[in-house]
Amino acid sequence: MTHGYDFLEITKDGHIATVTLNRPDNLNALSSGLMKEIEQVSRSFLEDEASRVVVFRGAGKHFSAGADLKEQAVPSNLVMQRRTSGLGGRMIKAILDIPQVTIASVHGAALGGGACIPTACDFRVAADDAFCGYPEVNLGINLQWLSLPLCVRLIGPSRAKRMIMLGDRESAKTLFEWGFFDLIVPVDQLQEATTRMAERYAAQPPIPTQMIKQSVNAVSNAIDQAIMHMDTDQFLLTTGTEDRREGNRAFFEKREPEFKGN
Ligand code: COA
Repeated sequence: MTHGYDFLEITKDGHIATVTLNRPDNLNALSSGLMKEIEQVSRSFLEDEASRVVVFRGAGKHFSAGADLKEQAVPSNLVMQRRTSGLGGRMIKAILDIPQVTIASVHGAALGGGACIPTACDFRVAADDAFCGYPEVNLGINLQWLSLPLCVRLIGPSRAKRMIMLGDRESAKTLFEWGFFDLIVPVDQLQEATTRMAERYAAQPPIPTQMIKQSVNAVSNAIDQAIMHMDTDQFLLTTGTEDRREGNRAFFEKREPEFKGN
């Protein structure tokens, strides 16, 4: 086990590294501290010669409840707001840039940002209790963090619009049928199934395997950077709206929001 992270646990076993999101008391909600560490550990794999596969998983009941809705600190000036709201995008970019094969091992909830992390991985193994969704829209904000095109590519434009516009939670079974999950297993077999998949990729020659990953990503993500740089600005625009405040209030008051379009 390696130390030095407050919100992650990192284990390395032979050619397989496992990154565990480790804020179980907060449902692994993505606080800025956790996101910075995910970005940092993802960049660290550039220097890691031994690992050939990186697994992302969550400690506790859920993979991740997404952006930490209790974290309210926002810089007062717009220059720094634009920069800090780019943190999620930088984290996802760092995951996409990991040279090794990446696998998300998902159980329980993977919502919002918690769904964005698996979409940035090369493969997704789900426990049968897993469910994913993008609740951003019901909080009055856009789906950001470079993740809209990642979802479109996995499940196609029509299902992506449905999932991102309605913010519904979809079951592991549905997401498997849609091609979002590559494999679905009983929850008590998640770890074993993830390890089996990881071992297969770890046994492949790392040079061509990593070249293939890089090339497939280059082809499929080619225009993402050209258009998705603006998703943080969309976020800043939507966070200033009354609908955003209503979405947040409704979540904590456990009621349906009433949106007015302003
Ligand atoms: N950020 C901060 N706190 C969160 C959170 C989040 N994203 N999601 C849940 N919590 C908090 C709850 O408010 C609750 O806090 P409390 O104990 O102080 O009341 C606690 O975590 C437990 O949540 P609960 O809903 O009781 O757990 P659950 O296991 O029944 O359900 C979820 C888990 C993830 C399905 C549910 O909490 C949920 O839908 N969360 C919101 C997801 C979301 O909208 N994320 C933001 C995406 S932009």
